[in-house]
Amino acid sequence: MPLTDNEKRDIIKYIESGKPLPDKYRFLLFDDKREVELVWNGKTNEVCNIVLPFQVIEQVDEPRANKPEDTSMQFDLFDSRGRQQKGWTNKLIWGDNKLILSSLKNGPLRDEIERNGGIKLIYIDPPFDVGADFSMDIEIGEETLHKEPGILEEIAYRDTWGKGADSFIAMIYERLVLMRDLLADDGSIYVHCDWRVNSYIRLVMDEIFGKENLRNEIIWSFTGRLMYTANRFNFKHNSILFYSKTDKHRINEVTEPIKREDYIKMKKQEVHKDPDGREWIWGHAGKGKSHEYKIFIDEVVSKGKNLSAVWSIPIVNTSSEERLDYPTQKPETLIERIIKASSNENDIICDFFCGSGTTAAVAEKLNRKWIVSDLGKFAIHTTRKRLIQVQRQLKDDGKDFRAFEVLNLGKYERQHYIGINENLREEEKRHQIEEREKNFTELILHAYKAQTVEGFPSFHGKKAGRLVAVGPINMPVTRLYVEEIILECRKNNVTRVDILAFEFEMGLFPNILDEAKSKGIDIAPKYIPREVFDRRAIEKNQVVFHDVSYIEIKPLVKGNSIAVELTDFSVYYTQETMDSVAEGLKNGSNKITVDNGQIVKVSKDKNGIVTRDTLTKKWTDWIDYWSVDFNFESKREIIRVPNEETGEIEERWTGDYIFENEWQSFRTKKDRSLELSSTFHECSPGRYKIAVKVVDIFGNDTMRIAEVTVGGKK
Ligand SMILES: C[S@@+](CC[C@H](N)C(=O)[O-])C[C@H]1O[C@@H](n2cnc3c(N)ncnc32)[C@H](O)[C@@H]1O
Repeated sequence: MPLTDNEKRDIIKYIESGKPLPDKYRFLLFDDKREVELVWNGKTNEVCNIVLPFQVIEQVDEPRANKPEDTSMQFDLFDSRGRQQKGWTNKLIWGDNKLILSSLKNGPLRDEIERNGGIKLIYIDPPFDVGADFSMDIEIGEETLHKEPGILEEIAYRDTWGKGADSFIAMIYERLVLMRDLLADDGSIYVHCDWRVNSYIRLVMDEIFGKENLRNEIIWSFTGRLMYTANRFNFKHNSILFYSKTDKHRINEVTEPIKREDYIKMKKQEVHKDPDGREWIWGHAGKGKSHEYKIFIDEVVSKGKNLSAVWSIPIVNTSSEERLDYPTQKPETLIERIIKASSNENDIICDFFCGSGTTAAVAEKLNRKWIVSDLGKFAIHTTRKRLIQVQRQLKDDGKDFRAFEVLNLGKYERQHYIGINENLREEEKRHQIEEREKNFTELILHAYKAQTVEGFPSFHGKKAGRLVAVGPINMPVTRLYVEEIILECRKNNVTRVDILAFEFEMGLFPNILDEAKSKGIDIAPKYIPREVFDRRAIEKNQVVFHDVSYIEIKPLVKGNSIAVELTDFSVYYTQETMDSVAEGLKNGSNKITVDNGQIVKVSKDKNGIVTRDTLTKKWTDWIDYWSVDFNFESKREIIRVPNEETGEIEERWTGDYIFENEWQSFRTKKDRSLELSSTFHECSPGRYKIAVKVVDIFGNDTMRIAEVTVGGKK
């Protein structure tokens, strides 16, 4: 619309006086006029286009064969133990889905996705605009202590944005644009939302996918106990917005069971019987053509009825078989309908907010390929365990399944967070890292509540009488690094040090700590949690630096086979000292804390008398999961990155190996027991590095490597 002279003058006046333009100019000035549009503070069409290389941290593939003969016919597909050799590997990715989506969209994995038919279906269930933290119950050992309310809570699940609809919408908008770009032309997307945000998401989806591509607003109605509510009705439903990318999308017929009685009640017609007793009613073939054909009731019942957009499916309740105690777990039946309707076997399905892994589990059972991601380590760990169980079940049922890998963006994600430009040459990048690491060190010290110290080459801060060293962002802390710290301690008569790091070189502990102790130096290594990049978490005091733990193992060799026994796992976690917990307690209340490697319940009775009850009774209580790779150095970790000179994608070995999960034992909600010895694994004579990975009840991973010789000394 052409502007009048008055309007032009008006605009100039506003600009010159530095005032914001009145709203009406939005519609007069811009080309792209939408009938209805949701706007929010900071809305922009720019989306992330960063490409970071994915790193494979673990590969999981339940061996399909009990004996080598079982797979000898399919040697090109499987190795002698029935582990997948080629073809698509499913992907469980740990990290922020913004970086994941943009790396999938613009990076080398995209080719593989397209070669496999593209992404046909995306289901997402983003955390709503809650602005609150969700915490998780921890299960200890074989006991069912987790059933008590308020057992140790660890922040394991959080929304990454601040309170308020605008930040939620800004977060989801950018990700939805990336998802649209990734989706195949005939693909579809289902966005799960509740009453608090469905109005915003609907408008944003209309804008991104086109309102003509809205297929349904599905109402998931969950049955269950209803309470009297004084000022409104019970909220017992969620909406799932179903959009297609284009008009090419078709859904498959999906039915739900119908009972004979319900069908008869619904039809309100006379039921007739054939001489053989078969029941039927008259079908209507169109106007004026009633009583045209027979509808046999047994056929209707066996086929089930076609779905409407209102789905009545119970939530995953406390006694449900599929319950994993993940706070927002969705029922498999719900996801099954979506997957069956909008995809076919071998299609790729994605869920970028996967939580407990419901989408991946159902996709695997329905023979779909999958890519799922989550930010939370509990979510990744819960999904890993769940998918191993799905693989085991499919194997027991004689059905096929695919291998999956756990990936992350590792150091690249951290480098990105501190603002390193990935496109720089190595030399420039090193300079930039050095410069940014200074700010990063301050951030870590702030989160750790330490004060900065100057004048030491290795130490950056001090806290409670201990000096603090912050390790590098993009490399593990090495033996050399710790040795330098020991030297500096001796030079300056320092006896107590905390080392904070994202990663420590494997096999570093406990030996180096004993070495330091023999020189009178007490070193406490601690992991920097990824929450340090979350400003709100720091402000809310929720960043916990877990102490490093140690695994003791005993390799067992019998002829040409090896097994591993887990003999000890020591942790020295301290969350809050018992005294400070007791101080903060009101009379008649209790709190669970971790103090020097013990989980302790501190209670204060109504007279203010404090009692302490240690809940961890034995070292195995700390272990949730452990797994073994019998030949750790057999698979190199390769990343695909652009060549600095030519820009072409090339494969590069990171210097690390992929942990191949060949045997594992873990606790589940139903079965709390844990095996402490692996099964024997056959291998040809030689020297091997066995890797053992333990995931503790907080979801922290620890690895240990041991060397063994099989079949006589070499
Ligand atoms: C509502 S839950 C999903 C539950 C899931 N549908 C299920 O059945 O278990 C949302 C998940 O999104 C994850 N999440 C939140 N922000 C994320 C982000 N930026 N990137 C990846 N995952 C994120 C949370 O950790 C949480 O597990």
